[in-house]
Amino acid sequence: MKDENHYLIPWYKDKLDVYHTEVLILGSGIAGLYAAIKLNPKFDVTVLTKMEIMASNTEHAQGGIAVALNNGDSPQFHYDDTINAGAGLVNKKAAMILAEKGPECVTELIQLGTKFDTNCQNQLDFAMEGAHGKHRVLHAQGDATGWEIERTLVEVVQSQNISVKENYYLVDIVKNQKQEACGTLVYNHVDKKLELWLAKAIIMATGGLGQMYKYTTNPSVATGDGIAAAYRAGAELMDMEFMQFHPTALQIPGAPSFLISEAVRGEGAILINACNERFMENIPRKELAPRDVVSRAIWEQMQTGTVFLDFSTIGKTRVEQRFPGIHKTCLEYGVDITSEPVPVGPAAHYLMGGIRTDEYGQTNIPNLYACGECACNGVHGANRLASNSLLDGLVFAATISEHITAKITEISHIDDIQTDHFITDKEQASPADIESLRKDLKELFWNKVGIIRDNAGLIEARAMLNMLKEKFEPRCYIEELELGNMLTLGSIIIMAALEREESRGAHFRRDYPKADECWQKHSVIKRGDKHVCYVSI
Ligand code: SIN
Repeated sequence: MKDENHYLIPWYKDKLDVYHTEVLILGSGIAGLYAAIKLNPKFDVTVLTKMEIMASNTEHAQGGIAVALNNGDSPQFHYDDTINAGAGLVNKKAAMILAEKGPECVTELIQLGTKFDTNCQNQLDFAMEGAHGKHRVLHAQGDATGWEIERTLVEVVQSQNISVKENYYLVDIVKNQKQEACGTLVYNHVDKKLELWLAKAIIMATGGLGQMYKYTTNPSVATGDGIAAAYRAGAELMDMEFMQFHPTALQIPGAPSFLISEAVRGEGAILINACNERFMENIPRKELAPRDVVSRAIWEQMQTGTVFLDFSTIGKTRVEQRFPGIHKTCLEYGVDITSEPVPVGPAAHYLMGGIRTDEYGQTNIPNLYACGECACNGVHGANRLASNSLLDGLVFAATISEHITAKITEISHIDDIQTDHFITDKEQASPADIESLRKDLKELFWNKVGIIRDNAGLIEARAMLNMLKEKFEPRCYIEELELGNMLTLGSIIIMAALEREESRGAHFRRDYPKADECWQKHSVIKRGDKHVCYVSI
């Protein structure tokens, strides 16, 4: 498989059905749907989504959405916590927009119909989570916040008759001769055909890539398709070495890495090791230390035994009321969290890096925007503050919609599509190979590009990844296209992790265990680069 190709598979314009819309949105999580609502009815908007509309990381978010709406809180405090958690790499302008615009966007979400939980005085109930200095995390149905927000947005999108096409897989972004984005090549999974969708503005809201790791809290759709497609089209990717590992996913053989929300520790649950010792006791902020700190502490304990999350400090009634989804799922796997501790371990959770954008979601490719997890404007730095991701999806979908609204009349529909030479010299893989190649990739990433990294492991990972690429050339089947994307992104993540010779936030190098001021800069990689470029924060 060749990374230098603009397109993942060969295609011929004359053989495709061509469709037009003004604004094309890829992805139906919080960022994609909120952008669609903000842009409708000013523009003809179409949302294309990989599976059914609800399938996204948003749907699985438990803990909540951080927002400075509580008495005694302020956007400045929220900004400060975001900066402090981000380990010296947060884009201050983006963090200020996030904190200041957050209250307006969340208030709109409430007006649209999201029902956040309230306390006994019927006031919004704000929870505490790791590295927050205030109670500021809104939640819904206890631990089903993402589901409730997604439900609201889907209902609004449907009531406004916004066109949403399910089972459309993004293959590639197409550009015109002026090198502007002018559409996308997509695979219509229902009719089993490639289609060309042309638009004046394209918004990537395609989510993250947790599926590259053996253990992940992410759903099956999270294979980095949008990030890889943007990269092939020439978009810059930023901070790809920073993958956040959530400290507490269910760790039972045969069970999925189901997320056990940070809100649980916010309510008082503690971490214990196999000897029943509270190993976070002497670490600043204990169980509510930043995520990277807690994940590494758990990882170290797991080298010698099982780690458990103990809910007994919370109490049965409160557990049942506040965490009904977690309670139910753990019961399905044989653990009653109201009476016994549950085995937990870290799992790949959220990519801080992604398609490089400014605060209006603009990429380096004209007319191509990105928001949500697939985008990176530096707002999360090297370590995202808990529950800032849903807010990020809302706020930067809103800034994109403002930008497009101001600009779109200037854009003419130029679609003299640029077609690049497509190079391949590989035998096509058989479907049986795909499954095992994917498994190999996930193992490799977990073991060598995971929570703790080093030079030797990363070099080994690079060599093994190149071997996997040698065996593989994707055809037009979703599993193969996904694998092609993950292999492409694999090389980028390894390059970024290898060249950053320090430890910062979620990127921990055992051979360079300290943060180094010289590295207080963002990594940037684009197609064709043999080395990482760096830009100041
Ligand atoms: C959680 O509920 O712990 C996840 C929330 C987040 O990742 O921000």
